[in-house]
Amino acid sequence: MKDSTEEPSPDTRIKLNDGNEIPLIGLGTWGIGGKSCYKTILEALDIGYRLIDTAPMYLNEEEIGRAMRDSGIDRDEIIITTKVASADMGYESTIRACHNSLRRLGVEQIDLYLIHWPSAGRNIKTWEAMEELRSQGLVRSIGVSNYTSNLLNDLLSSGGPIPAVNQIEANPFIYDIELAKYCADNRIHIEAYSPLTRGYCLQEKKLLQIANAYGRSPAQILLRWSIQRGLTVIPKSATTTHLRENFDIFDFEIYLGDMNKLDTLNTVSSMLDWR
Ligand SMILES: NC(=O)c1ccc[n+]([C@@H]2O[C@H](COP(=O)([O-])OP(=O)(O)OC[C@H]3O[C@@H](n4cnc5c(N)ncnc54)[C@H](OP(=O)(O)O)[C@@H]3O)[C@@H](O)[C@H]2O)c1
Repeated sequence: MKDSTEEPSPDTRIKLNDGNEIPLIGLGTWGIGGKSCYKTILEALDIGYRLIDTAPMYLNEEEIGRAMRDSGIDRDEIIITTKVASADMGYESTIRACHNSLRRLGVEQIDLYLIHWPSAGRNIKTWEAMEELRSQGLVRSIGVSNYTSNLLNDLLSSGGPIPAVNQIEANPFIYDIELAKYCADNRIHIEAYSPLTRGYCLQEKKLLQIANAYGRSPAQILLRWSIQRGLTVIPKSATTTHLRENFDIFDFEIYLGDMNKLDTLNTVSSMLDWR
């Protein structure tokens, strides 16, 4: 295992503020269901992915759990992330939702449990339940998703633990620099969702030029940009060639000048701009 001060590699692990560790790349699974999900997870684990991101609303926790068991890979090598849905927020309902995810996944512990979306008036009670789940050993790390710095401030002021992770949309086209700084200052690790812009911006001219110059695909440039910014990426793919291509980002580096060019693609100054 390497630590985050060395050259990034598939074995690099980022140390979270609670002492637990996660890789720089994981697999997003929104929209992958049924048999195709089972096959995709097995393929991804075989390629080397060790972080899987799901949520109850993706309706694939059972297939993911089954593929994890059938893969033959030690359970403690795989980081499984799932989330409490908005509909389940609140103290008792969060506890219940976690037990339901544990049952569907068929695991004794969830490695990273996130609040999927903030919900006014229910954030603090939900966070208290997350803390309780962690103290019972049912989840290892707790975090949030789609939280602005103001919402994070509310959680921090409540006196509970600092979230280990904030999972937010991030790629060169959408990057909330102020939020990234807030998270860094408070040792909250950012996981970038939709790191490939859901596929929408892969043909953008500047991105294509840089991809051509490195002999890499636009998707690889986007993912590499994120890990060089210190983010964990969770690209979704159910296509074998893409799964391999997305994992193959550790043998090149984007030079500073090109990182700066990619930064100019950013269209938001704050997450609040595009909400
Ligand atoms: N917390 C939240 O609120 C939240 C919100 C959104 C997403 N997420 C998580 O983040 C994950 C990733 O985000 P996302 O699914 O929105 O979008 P994404 O990962 O940015 O993009 C996925 C799309 O890109 C395509 N793709 C993948 N690799 C490619 C490649 N190398 N070349 C060309 N196209 C490629 C995929 O198609 P193929 O399948 O054909 O490869 C798919 O259509 C989700 O699956 C989910 O786990 C979380």
